[in-house]
Amino acid sequence: MRPTLPPCSHTPAPYTGPSYEECLRLRQEHLPPSYLTYYSKPLMLVEGAMQYVWDETGKRYLDGFGGIVTVGVGHCHPHVVAAADFHNHRIQHTTTLYLHPTVGQYAQKMASTMPGDLKVCYFVNSGSEANDLALMMARAYTGNYDIIALRNSYHGGGQSTMGITGNHTWKYNQPQGQGVQFAMTPNRYRGLFGYDDPQAGAKYAADVKNLIEFGTPGRVAAFIAESIQGVGGFIEFPDGYLQDVYATVRAAGGLCIADEVQAGFARSGDKYWGFELHGVVPDIVTMAKSIGNGCALAAVVTTKEIASALKSRIHFNTFGGNPVACAQGLAVLEVIEKENIQEKMRVLGGRLRDGFLRLQQKHQAIGDVRGRGFIQGVEFVKDRASKEPDKDRCSKVLEFAREHSLLLGRGGIYGNVLRVTPPMCLTADDVDYIIDVVDLALSAD
Ligand SMILES: Cc1ncc(COP(=O)(O)O)c(C=O)c1O
Repeated sequence: MRPTLPPCSHTPAPYTGPSYEECLRLRQEHLPPSYLTYYSKPLMLVEGAMQYVWDETGKRYLDGFGGIVTVGVGHCHPHVVAAADFHNHRIQHTTTLYLHPTVGQYAQKMASTMPGDLKVCYFVNSGSEANDLALMMARAYTGNYDIIALRNSYHGGGQSTMGITGNHTWKYNQPQGQGVQFAMTPNRYRGLFGYDDPQAGAKYAADVKNLIEFGTPGRVAAFIAESIQGVGGFIEFPDGYLQDVYATVRAAGGLCIADEVQAGFARSGDKYWGFELHGVVPDIVTMAKSIGNGCALAAVVTTKEIASALKSRIHFNTFGGNPVACAQGLAVLEVIEKENIQEKMRVLGGRLRDGFLRLQQKHQAIGDVRGRGFIQGVEFVKDRASKEPDKDRCSKVLEFAREHSLLLGRGGIYGNVLRVTPPMCLTADDVDYIIDVVDLALSAD
């Protein structure tokens, strides 16, 4: 039986803009051919309200991908829109050359979510910029050059962040990654040390020590890792891994950078920040995506001492600290708190995970289910013993879901991992709808 999309009280405005065909033509003629689209027939979206989006025909979809983990608290969340509206009518741009109340209030609120001395915020416009700045800061502070990143990571599309991205799909054949070394991915599904190995964390961490000893001058500027690898297919690290790695990196004079671009902002349910799942405190935290619920905002949070390393020159970012973007970011933090989103993620994320685990028992195509809260991945294989990746299956599930009014994402180097990262405002019925549609998709052939 075809599952029914849960009801919604929002009525979209009739779409009166250029036709689908015209938008496709504009895209083909004037936007870069390297842009990727999902689906055999690209989808056009013209309106959004909380967990739902609408195409130009008025068809409604449940957004199970959140605009790539970016619409954190819901499309056009009223509190976030009101904050941006207010500032849009007061002053839209100031720069950090002048004082403005919102940027400081936002930084203070952000600092209140962080442990230890992580109290200073640099605001920038994208995750790539945030990671680029974090690398520069680590090198300036330590006086060291080498960076340890992880294979299967994604940290951005700029020249320096492509250099710390450990996945060939995202790397152009150009000079990049000077001083960057890649350690083994602590992937317990496909890696050397599996879920059944209680020492997996320590064993994967030993590779970082080995790399520092043999592949660097013995001193490093930083170790950078996503708290849950996102684009790489939601790889969660084994217990103890980050604790061991952080100790090793610090002993070699380096700083530890946590990239929270996908895992942060209460999405995991168990903790507010992904690094907290591992009982570590980074020296630098980078964040983007859900930080602004859809506006161009990102941040680097660190200690005053580390931030001071950039005082020898001027570091300036025109839109960093923009009042409208900061108001929107502040509103996101307020919503996460007021709507008790972390607890909601714990409960609904558990429901989502239980649903996928049930599907894994039913469908041989599901090799692995991983993640927590609203950051969950389902890895498709052709055969459970060989673990041969099944990219086609993932494509079929995505297409089927789209036909059934559900948008999902994909990831992993083989393109065979379904990524489920909805806005954090779904109901239990929405969660059940996701499970029912994926179940039906896998039962379809
Ligand atoms: C973990 C992670 N870091 C950094 C980035 C780069 O962010 P942006 O696309 O805003 O530059 C991304 C983007 O997908 C990401 O997933």
